[in-house]
Amino acid sequence: MNAPLLPTSIDDTQARLLAADYVADRRLATVVYLALKLQRPLFLEGEPGTGKTEIARTLAAVLDRPLIRLQCHEGLDLAGAAYEWNYARQMMEIRLAEASGQNGSSASREALAAELFSPKFLTQRALLQAIDPAREVPPVLLIDELDRADEPFEAFLLEVLADFQITIPELGTVKATHPPIVILTSNRTREIHDAVKRRCLYHWVDFPDAARELAILQRRVPGASQALAAQVVAFVQKLRSVELYKLPGVAETIEWARALMELDAIVLDPEVIQHTLGVLLKYQDDIARMQGGEAARLLEQVRHGPPP
Ligand SMILES: Nc1ncnc2c1ncn2[C@@H]1O[C@H](COP(=O)(O)OP(=O)(O)O)[C@@H](O)[C@H]1O
Ligand SMILES: [Mg+2]
Repeated sequence: MNAPLLPTSIDDTQARLLAADYVADRRLATVVYLALKLQRPLFLEGEPGTGKTEIARTLAAVLDRPLIRLQCHEGLDLAGAAYEWNYARQMMEIRLAEASGQNGSSASREALAAELFSPKFLTQRALLQAIDPAREVPPVLLIDELDRADEPFEAFLLEVLADFQITIPELGTVKATHPPIVILTSNRTREIHDAVKRRCLYHWVDFPDAARELAILQRRVPGASQALAAQVVAFVQKLRSVELYKLPGVAETIEWARALMELDAIVLDPEVIQHTLGVLLKYQDDIARMQGGEAARLLEQVRHGPPP
């Protein structure tokens, strides 16, 4: 294996993530370090836009591993997530055997049956790809937004998470030679079953504090002036204390800073905030809540509050 070595300490983890522009706090760096060291899946839960998916991407980049992503959705099943027998190819094989008159004896029928359920006719999806024993370099396996999948799907995951293996009834058990680095994420639209969580290290990804959000902004939108970045962060931090249906995530802070730069805004003013609220808030009720002087009131607090 020629991939870079795993981090040697929590500090090293934090530094290497930062070098790839991911600003992790100490608690996140600790749990990432431990997940790598203990070879345990890492379960990240938190509001949308707080950097959960990005951590998997960053780890893959930092450790020079392929990233295999399983985007969960309603109706996701074993066939979509792990493997599927290629029915069309199997049928073709049967026809060919028939045509060449090979299926006469029971011995040749058995041989054909064994052949039909060999890896040649197996389509590998993300989970099986990630534990393929033929892999030299174990990948980062991202099981993204698990809360979107139906609950029964979680049961499929248990074997993968506990032993990095999948049992295929017709074929036997496939087990990774080197365990993949597994990151699971959930936006918590529903609770994930305890059985899944028990097999993972768990971390709640919170909104960053002002200092960290400013550091993120400086990394992700380096062109923004210090003054604008500071105001943007302070405003978004205040906005998160308002009772809204959906609070803006870091992704929205970044988008907003980019939008404001695009509009040549040097500092925030009530008008530019009103006109760009749709970058931060995605529900009309939330936008309506911020109209009628509410945004201006928050801005006043930002201007007269302590710097972030
Ligand atoms: N700690 C962080 N350091 C650097 N960038 C971050 C951080 N957290 C979030 N981001 C940025 O926010 C964006 C959204 O993050 P993402 O991982 O998609 O959120 P989630 O998966 O939690 O919904 C990312 O593209 C990344 O640029
Ligand atoms: Mg995500």
